[in-house]
Amino acid sequence: MSEQKSFSSNLGAIMAAVGSAVGLGNIWRFPYITGKYGGGAFLIVYLFFVFLLGSVLMMSELVIGRRTRCTPIKAYTSLATKGQKGLWRVLGWLCVVTSFFILSQYLVLSGWTTGYVWHSVSGSLAALGTDASLIADFFRLFSTGGWNPVWYMVAFSALVLIVIFGGVQKGVELASKVLMPILVVLILVLCVRSLTLPGSMRGVEYLFSPDFSKLTAEGILAALGQALFSLSVGMGVMVVYGSYLPANDNIFKTAMWITACDTLIALLAGLAIFPAVFSCGFDPAGGPGLVFCVLPNVFNSMGTAGAVFSMVFFLLLLVAALTSAISLLECLTACICEATARPDGKSGMRRWQGALLFFLLTTALGAVFTLSFSHLSGVKIADLSLFDFIDRINSIYLPPICALCTTIFFGWVMPEADVRDEFTSHGAHRVRLYGAVRFLARYVAPLALLIVLVTGIFMN
Ligand code: TRP
Repeated sequence: MSEQKSFSSNLGAIMAAVGSAVGLGNIWRFPYITGKYGGGAFLIVYLFFVFLLGSVLMMSELVIGRRTRCTPIKAYTSLATKGQKGLWRVLGWLCVVTSFFILSQYLVLSGWTTGYVWHSVSGSLAALGTDASLIADFFRLFSTGGWNPVWYMVAFSALVLIVIFGGVQKGVELASKVLMPILVVLILVLCVRSLTLPGSMRGVEYLFSPDFSKLTAEGILAALGQALFSLSVGMGVMVVYGSYLPANDNIFKTAMWITACDTLIALLAGLAIFPAVFSCGFDPAGGPGLVFCVLPNVFNSMGTAGAVFSMVFFLLLLVAALTSAISLLECLTACICEATARPDGKSGMRRWQGALLFFLLTTALGAVFTLSFSHLSGVKIADLSLFDFIDRINSIYLPPICALCTTIFFGWVMPEADVRDEFTSHGAHRVRLYGAVRFLARYVAPLALLIVLVTGIFMN
């Protein structure tokens, strides 16, 4: 098994990071949130946050990772000043915990997606026709179907495990290089179909025409939350990917590429979904159920070809989820291997052992969350089902806390000379916007994240 601990090229690194960033958040969450909070108006705020703050956080994590060539646990401690090492070690572990819970929750939706790929291939989705209540019932029966969705989830995580077994270059990087182009082709196919349907322009308008009256304070916070979630920052995954970056890689450029690609794919997802939804006369405010309840109906009303587009769509969702889950399991695996390594340099846990351990743990927890829609629906924490509970932890608490600590660390704790040296790849290139990035990282990002965190906690 390959134990090579870096990506083979800049392109491979970008593909892997884009694969991590592009996920269910882009294709399932971004379109419905944008619709909900005023289309174009939300979009302007979102773009502002993504490029101003999201990209800066991305750079911070990549810099920390490449500087130390370590996972978050060791990275933060080794860069911290002497008396503070214990404190920053906590942040490293918090990143691990966050990745762990995010993956466990992510697996639930990935399992559903895997199930829907199967049902669109087997024809059971097409057989439902265009009866909205029948389609909604199908989703309800499927998601509350006890162990059935769990098996799909297990199949999905097994696929992720196989990729991680392959190693950094022959697993993660190769999978990203194969899957990301497929994803782009699939999404373009859907965009073309969607935009050429009669009446599709109303969907484009819905997505892009700004309605500032719908843009509330809540919408602005949602934009920032979505920007961080979509870029996969705030849980140390990008620290790990940073540690795999080639030494000469221009981190500023790489982060900008990742941000741009992630945003572009989110926009394409909106263009693939809304024009078709409007053209077929459905309600765009489908919320989280948009993908599983509204879209099958849209495909079924397209006639025979709809069955093909349905397969294409759910396959797209699966590919997007897969590359994100891969990055999460990779992060966890790298962390545990490093944390168990002995001081004398002898390796602790082997890569395959770490991967298997976290595969078992996250899949088991994912099964519990999946079953919280059926057998475990009676179990409540703070009046919430287990899934809703973890959803709240994963959106309001953990990532914003990690992100906030990361910016403070990057802006105020890590020696500036190290930051500059890493940004310029030891003087190999000039980064003209360095001053601006530094300013954003030190002042703007921590403040914005603090606001998100506090309002998130008090508004819910
Ligand atoms: N960015 C992913 C998406 O858009 C979700 C995500 C959040 C993620 N944090 C992550 C994926 C960490 C991988 C690693 O769906």
